[in-house]
Amino acid sequence: MRIGVLTGGGDVPGLNAAIRAVARRAFQYGYEVFGIKNGWAGLVEGGLEPLTLRSVSGILHVGGTILGTSRTNPCKSPADLASCISHVQETGLDALVVIGGDDTLGVAQVLCEAGVKIVGIPKTMDNDVPGTDYCIGFNTAVTVVAEACDRLHTTASAHHRVMVVEVMGRHAGWVATVGGLAGGADFILVPERPCDLDLICKHIRRRWEEQGKSFSIIVASEGAEIYEVKGEEELGETDEFGHVRLDRRDIGKNLARAIEERTGFESRAVVLGHIQRGGSPTVFDRVLATRFGVKAVDLIQEGQFGCMVALRGNEIVALPLTEVTGRAKEVDLKLYDLAQIFY
Ligand code: F6P
Repeated sequence: MRIGVLTGGGDVPGLNAAIRAVARRAFQYGYEVFGIKNGWAGLVEGGLEPLTLRSVSGILHVGGTILGTSRTNPCKSPADLASCISHVQETGLDALVVIGGDDTLGVAQVLCEAGVKIVGIPKTMDNDVPGTDYCIGFNTAVTVVAEACDRLHTTASAHHRVMVVEVMGRHAGWVATVGGLAGGADFILVPERPCDLDLICKHIRRRWEEQGKSFSIIVASEGAEIYEVKGEEELGETDEFGHVRLDRRDIGKNLARAIEERTGFESRAVVLGHIQRGGSPTVFDRVLATRFGVKAVDLIQEGQFGCMVALRGNEIVALPLTEVTGRAKEVDLKLYDLAQIFY
């Protein structure tokens, strides 16, 4: 059996742990494993490199991905899609393990329909892949957000400022909600719950007048909807896959300016950006990635394809790719409401 493995979309800490787990489990079954470079771009071009015990050793704790990644979308071009299929055939790959978020897994689903045998592994710091409680990379990202909030509390309180912390997450509020909850945020803004600027400002004033708190930490998702604070989506700049670049909205900066104008409180914006995706994975992400990688190869061994591994409670299960692609999982609003108790 010859297995190909690729990582697509934005990188996250934990990808290498998953690659290592796929390779090590596959070697146990006597399979050969090949790394496909730079996501779907590598399959379009047909470049494979054999993975060995040596090449996957020492990478469990290392961020990024030894295979490289890209946001290449072969579904944009029939010729690219055909190249992917013919390269799978020409290189004699019996199955692929595809590690990615909704975009990458969506392409996997299209290739499955064309007869390629695939098992998917969900990764994205956005945690918006349906069907799984957690994706690889989310836990590390929210750990970074919580630590940033801890650090910003001390400087915000020293200067009596409002700090707006802009976090990633695309159109889902998972990173803002869980990171903000863990970091003791005084207000959290997510795409799923549009909000009035007035409400935010009243809350900041109330904290000062009723609780004597002269500072506030506001965690805002890059895709947050705040009625009077316009993001710059109209610019319409997209990434390689075709998604609008939400960082271009500058929601953190625009919100900090609006709060300062309306309340008179000095305000600053901090954009955490790619720091949320950098560095070493947390213990949770290392273990999750390891469990996902082993399960993916076990499914191949059992002859189960066209599915994605998923965490349900504490169990790793398999779900059809058709059930998990083409839509995003919104934040759990019960968690969002829980965070509000502490505003
Ligand atoms: O999907 C992961 C993510 O980090 C989003 O949260 C963010 O909007 C986007 O990728 C950033 O993409 P890039 O790495 O292309 O700037």
